Amino acid sequence: MFNSVIKGLGYYVPENVVTNEDLTKMMDTSDEWIVERTGIRERRWVNDDKLTTSLMGTYAAEKAIKDANIDKNEIDFIIFSTLSPDYYFPGSGVLLQRNLEIKEVGALDVRNQCSGFIYAISIADQYIKSGMYKNILVVGSEIHSGGLEKTSRGRSVSVIFGDGAGAAVISASKGESGILSTHLHSEGKFAEELAVIKPATTFWVDKIKNDDDEDGSGYYPYMNGNFVFKNAVVRFEQVIFEALNHSNLKKEDISLLITHQANLRISQYIQKRLKLSDSQVYNNIMKYGNTTAASIPIALTEAYNSNLIKKGDIVVLAAFGSGFTWGSALIKW
Ligand code: UT7
Repeated sequence: MFNSVIKGLGYYVPENVVTNEDLTKMMDTSDEWIVERTGIRERRWVNDDKLTTSLMGTYAAEKAIKDANIDKNEIDFIIFSTLSPDYYFPGSGVLLQRNLEIKEVGALDVRNQCSGFIYAISIADQYIKSGMYKNILVVGSEIHSGGLEKTSRGRSVSVIFGDGAGAAVISASKGESGILSTHLHSEGKFAEELAVIKPATTFWVDKIKNDDDEDGSGYYPYMNGNFVFKNAVVRFEQVIFEALNHSNLKKEDISLLITHQANLRISQYIQKRLKLSDSQVYNNIMKYGNTTAASIPIALTEAYNSNLIKKGDIVVLAAFGSGFTWGSALIKW
């Protein structure tokens, strides 16, 4: 039986920095409101049409493959997680395979929004533990900026989201360390509380032609912010304890907790509830905003590159988002 270890990490964010001050020129908002309610000071928004979700994922993947110190043709499976794919179909995994110019390995797309990276590493973990694959490339990449409603009407959503990509190479190992467990959940009765409804099969091209949604509000992301927030804090805590209990660990055993970067207030609330010190929690939402499926791999890479994770550490990853979906992963580094 193999264990799955994170052998390489990498991330890529677009160069274009958009500050809260920049947003005040587009909508009725303020730096004070955004910092106080979300912790976000700036985010990256793509300003180059050639930069697609799959291309940003490719840049992050190249760094992760280099960090893993393997040849790209040793990758034997791709899992691509995004809510903002290049195309309606095909998925972005095949585009990544094409961009990387690697052999014809399987490519799977995961549609689990903010929880996408946790779902993706859970799938990778099972394939590796079963012996089916040895090196799996897991990518989370998002371009939100083009689809946001950058006006006063859309301000509660558009100030939050940022663009970016993160990647991990997950490899088979005979050692003790690796992904100890993953825990996945969903509650579809709240599917429309955080969603982009159109266009899709409930709203095909023929219907769009006759759409009387003149102000186009149905085409932008909708979020019932307070409701999502209240569910998030409960589910985060539950799923972190689920992971700890599974390995008979206590919250004191956590070396580093990285939650999906949804809102700094959510992360701080969890930290307080679990009585964790600042050094046990890593946040970077201040710089990048909420990058959904990319947020955990970006944060994990930054924490790792800053030497905040060392061998033997217990690292807990947890996410919550649209669906609702949520999940956690407990890793012995
Ligand atoms: O990533 C997946 C999971 N997502 C989350 O977990 C996000 C969860 N939700 C949140 O993070 C928060 O609900 C938001 C940051 C989205 C909103 O913060 P809030 O504290 O829940 O604010 P609110 O929506 O209750 O709005 C409070 C006030 C309203 O004004 P009134 O009605 O009190 O006069 C809003 O119109 O703030 C106003 N407001 C803004 N003002 C300035 C909303 N957005 C803005 C804005 N700038 N950008």
